[in-house]
Amino acid sequence: MAEALRRAAQLLGSARRVVVLTGAGISAESGVPTFRDDLTGLWARFDAQQLATAEAFHADPDLVWGWYEWRRARVSRAEPNPGHRAIAAIQTRVPDSTVITQNVDDLHERAGTRAPIHLHGSLFAPRCIAAAGHPATFEDISESEPGQPDEGGRVAPPQCTSCSALVRPGVVWFGEALPQAALTAAVEAAADCDVLLTVGTSGVVYPAAEIPGIAARSGAAVIQVNPQPTPLDRVCAINLRGTAAQVLPALVAAAWEETDEG
Ligand code: APR
Repeated sequence: MAEALRRAAQLLGSARRVVVLTGAGISAESGVPTFRDDLTGLWARFDAQQLATAEAFHADPDLVWGWYEWRRARVSRAEPNPGHRAIAAIQTRVPDSTVITQNVDDLHERAGTRAPIHLHGSLFAPRCIAAAGHPATFEDISESEPGQPDEGGRVAPPQCTSCSALVRPGVVWFGEALPQAALTAAVEAAADCDVLLTVGTSGVVYPAAEIPGIAARSGAAVIQVNPQPTPLDRVCAINLRGTAAQVLPALVAAAWEETDEG
């Protein structure tokens, strides 16, 4: 690991344009469950088809809204971890860097990252289901945590104050298109970077999983941080097998060690 970390630090420390792509793994050490980790992953415990599709919302809006309120309550009580803060530090060190996340939490922003690109939406951007998609507001949730779906965690979604349509979570559900502007910005940044860091994603959900490959085909060095192997291994120049909160601070410290020592 030490040799791989040293090589990765050298690449990162001399990069002029950096892209960081994150998945659920970056927030795991903040207590936010991932999706596909055995047993603990959300999809190991809950049925994605019953909770994360437009059809599911139309079939049972209270169950779906309740689930996302449960997740929002958990995220609201979570704190960014050293992995999130290391990514914010990279953005400070390399002004021309882009952070792209598949996560719907706000932990990157709370760690100080400017304008991360949310490919899969956000738990904090509800909108109504009408074509206009009027932005909606939330009640404060910090005190009242709804129960989990299997604990009867049904909560009726609010109605839009502009058109009375139901309000839905501002996330991208399975079968839905990603926000076009976000996807375009992400692809362009990946095609034009020196180094792409992919952190805590299983690399199985497209089109997000395409992004490291786009960078590799454009000549960038792709570095993966993940305790487990993933299908992305094959496009990576370096695979750092460890957790985000352990590996990223060490990587950032090593990358700019010389510069700091002057
Ligand atoms: N640090 C780094 N990586 C970790 C950590 C950690 N502490 N803990 C787990 N991981 C890794 C796992 O090994 C796994 O490869 O993070 C990955 C999490 O994978 P998923 O749960 O599949 O999450 P993600 O890749 O973000 O899912 C993509 O799928 O369900 C949809 O919309 C949802 O955005 C999500 C998308």
